[in-house]
Amino acid sequence: MRLSDSTAVAREAARRWVQIAADSVRARGKFAVALSGGTTPEELYRLLGSEYREQLPWSQSYIYWGDERRVPASDPQNNAYAVRQQLLDQVAVPPEQVFPMNSSELARTAERDYLEKMRRHLPLDAKKTPIFDLVLLGLGADGHFASIYPGTRAVSDLSNMVLVYPVPQLGKDRMTLTLPVFNAARHVIVMAIGEEKAEAVSNALQGARKPSTYPAQALNPKEGTLTWLLDTAAASKLPA
Ligand code: 6PG
Repeated sequence: MRLSDSTAVAREAARRWVQIAADSVRARGKFAVALSGGTTPEELYRLLGSEYREQLPWSQSYIYWGDERRVPASDPQNNAYAVRQQLLDQVAVPPEQVFPMNSSELARTAERDYLEKMRRHLPLDAKKTPIFDLVLLGLGADGHFASIYPGTRAVSDLSNMVLVYPVPQLGKDRMTLTLPVFNAARHVIVMAIGEEKAEAVSNALQGARKPSTYPAQALNPKEGTLTWLLDTAAASKLPA
């Protein structure tokens, strides 16, 4: 979906969040969402924490993250820290329903621990993959989303549901949910804003099929919906 600017993208994402949360609570008594880091969703988080605050079922919401930078929990670079400032500190979500990724534990322990936290509260499919009601994703100019970076094992390794691995492009460890989890979700929304994302959007949506190079091509929720919310600049390399 092509929208005029970043505010229109944030508003459309907020409108969809409200609808999906209401439907999920009606159907299953709870709403589980995996959040994105980065700057793209900041306006959305601020809207949810202000204008939309009263419309949302916070006491039935379960908040997870799609990925995390392995920095201390109090570091502004930490995805969970950022969402706390912009959104979670403004709303009445019970703290025991908020699940930041642990950025300090050893890789194996952190992976196991997060999978267990998802399986405890989310419905599971036949392979015991947790089923999110909503996954929010941003897109990097190099084509990564969450911490699924081009050419890395995160694109090809489909056996883990949570992965901690060194991202060669960053020279740093990242922790991420993986494609099997994203593709088991009921709704996936990818948001992209700005000219610098135009090439990555075009490669993902109309490039030659090379998911290892363009990881977003591998997003294909089996039973769910995939929605791209783009501003005019991010959509500028797509046909009119
Ligand atoms: C992160 C992300 C990442 C992000 C993209 C886009 O932790 O950085 O979850 O996948 O969504 O890098 O980042 P911007 O929104 O800042 O452009």
